[in-house]
Amino acid sequence: MTGQETSAQVETKNIGLRGIVVADSTISRVDGEKGILIYRGYDIAPLAREGTFEEVVHLLLDDDLPKAAELEALRHELAGYRNLPEAAIDTLRTLPKEAATMDVLQAMVPVLAMHDAEPEAAGPEECRRQALGLICRLPLLVAARERLRSGLEVVAARQDLGHAANFLYTLHGEVPDREKAAIMDTILILHADHGFNASTFTARQIASTRAHLHAAVAGALGSLSGALHGGANYRVFRMLREIGSVDKVEEYVTRALDNKERIMGMGHAVYKVTDPRAEILGPMAAALAAKAGRPELYEIAEEVRRVTAVEMRRRKGREIHANVDFFSAIVNAMIDIPPDMFTPVFALGRVAGWCAHYIEERFGGARAKPVLYRPRAEYVGRYCGPEGCAWTPLEKR
Ligand code: COA
Repeated sequence: MTGQETSAQVETKNIGLRGIVVADSTISRVDGEKGILIYRGYDIAPLAREGTFEEVVHLLLDDDLPKAAELEALRHELAGYRNLPEAAIDTLRTLPKEAATMDVLQAMVPVLAMHDAEPEAAGPEECRRQALGLICRLPLLVAARERLRSGLEVVAARQDLGHAANFLYTLHGEVPDREKAAIMDTILILHADHGFNASTFTARQIASTRAHLHAAVAGALGSLSGALHGGANYRVFRMLREIGSVDKVEEYVTRALDNKERIMGMGHAVYKVTDPRAEILGPMAAALAAKAGRPELYEIAEEVRRVTAVEMRRRKGREIHANVDFFSAIVNAMIDIPPDMFTPVFALGRVAGWCAHYIEERFGGARAKPVLYRPRAEYVGRYCGPEGCAWTPLEKR
């Protein structure tokens, strides 16, 4: 906006709020031009390489990386939330086996609220407590869901394992090796926050109404489930499997683009270069696929990336790059996450960010006074004059 324009003169309609700054935030910074993602001042690359999800939870909720004693205290606190109310597991058992796990998760979060003694947390400290509860219980719900629909018994969480390792343990029923647990940590860390993405904005919008944290997280889960958001990773894997071999990529991509379909995992609303999360997950995917004796899976992905970039340049003069979902699909598959659990796994990382944003929005962390979101739509529907259309009784219409 130039200095002379008023906000009313800037075209803001039907552009998905792209480029429109709606709030201050201290939680994460996304530099779309340079391909940089920062959580509370720290670049994600060393966090993903060296850190644990618990450290990132502390960073997002408590504003800085923990010192050793703080991390120990947080681990202890988190372990205390590693349980599901028996009644919640009973509810899980009643849900249809075929239901999408994102729907199940979205339905179960309010169930957890119903079992919380004080769902209407009054202040940031109570919200932080609820946040830790959700961060711990969402993975337990995903794991329990997967086991129940597979006809297996729910595995009780272990207090002595790290957050990532415990998730894999409750999912698979065996303690993962260090490498698998570290990969899970990286996935969770890379998904933990990402500015005002669609689901986070949903959570913040709900926070602005003063609805409770569980309501905001349930709403955010619904938002994340969409194909253009977190739902892309599962669809990437389906696409790679459907293509089947490198020589079929060109035909697949050109046909999809001819049909005006989107290539999942490609493109981003903010990044104009490769998504920094994909930069980290790409080499991991290559190494893991090679180690698993399935190098072709990665080779197909690379060819999809190449052909899509060439075709988008040729057809629309646009540059397009891989996003986080493109390679996370392969990495998830290589640690035996069932494909339709990829988006739920995305949620297990992002819940930390949703909670941090909820607290910031509701209690005015970055701005003194939180305000209810209330944008305006321009009415372009039927118009019969300033008094409105005349009412016609049903029998005369
Ligand atoms: N495949 C094919 N075409 C794509 C595309 C993709 N992955 N991503 C963008 N485009 C095209 C759109 O069709 C549109 O073309 P048009 O102008 O001729 O209608 C144009 O590029 C702009 O797309 P738009 O959705 O308006 O803006 P964007 O670039 O900001 O889109 C996404 C960002 C993420 C919505 C988009 O890239 C997408 O749908 N990607 C696939 C889904 C995905 O991976 N989502 C996860 C994101 S982390």
